[in-house]
Amino acid sequence: MKNIVSMLGSALLLFLALTVFTPDAMAASGGIMGRSGRENSVMTCALCHQGGAEPIVALSGPASLEVGETATYMLTITSTSASQTAAGLGVAVTNGFLLNLDDDTRVDTDLDELTHTQPKTADTAGITTFSFEYTAPDSPQPVRVFYAGNAVNQASGASGDGAVADQFVIDVVAPPTSITLNQASSVDGQAIGLLGSMLGVLLVGTAVSCISFKRA
Ligand code: HEC
Repeated sequence: MKNIVSMLGSALLLFLALTVFTPDAMAASGGIMGRSGRENSVMTCALCHQGGAEPIVALSGPASLEVGETATYMLTITSTSASQTAAGLGVAVTNGFLLNLDDDTRVDTDLDELTHTQPKTADTAGITTFSFEYTAPDSPQPVRVFYAGNAVNQASGASGDGAVADQFVIDVVAPPTSITLNQASSVDGQAIGLLGSMLGVLLVGTAVSCISFKRA
């Protein structure tokens, strides 16, 4: 009896673990969360999508942002096989906010993660691009962007596809200290202004005394 209870308990725990740690796992062609490689280096699209050729996957965008700054990033998936004619992606960050720009991607704001909405057809050169925005957090820190690109053959399954995952670091920095500089230059300006007025008073004073000296 005890065994059955503990077995049921383990099964329940396993079920919970799977549902908690595999968010959205069923919606594969409509995008999938938790498979960017952020959670674990093996938790990527390649876990299921195999058998095809690996695409060339690259993330482009600023490698340094000021705190709170927003910039556009682009993931490029270049298929290396004529039969892999569409692509999908998974992107997750360690901090900050992802924002989708077009209908081809969607964001889970709780997970800070972005994925495709449907397989996106590559151009004639086999290239598929996805653009999105990223807003840096409010404190300086290195942010890791985990990304995975998957070139698929649109054969309604995960075989004959190829996926690659990698990382990109965005250095989130404090804004330049322009306020201090402005204060320093305005102090200088005031000092110069004061010297100028003193010189003016001196000149007028000399002129007045010269005139009154002549008259006398
Ligand atoms: C748990 C296994 C699994 C993982 C992990 C997975 N997928 Fe899938 N994916 C599938 C299955 C199964 C299908 C086919 C069923 C369907 O279309 O929903 C599929 C279909 C797709 C399709 C459409 C395929 C086609 O040929 O039209 C795309 C695009 C896709 N997945 C992208 C991704 C991306 C990108 C990732 C990683 C971020 C990923 N998948 C991770 C299982 C997975």
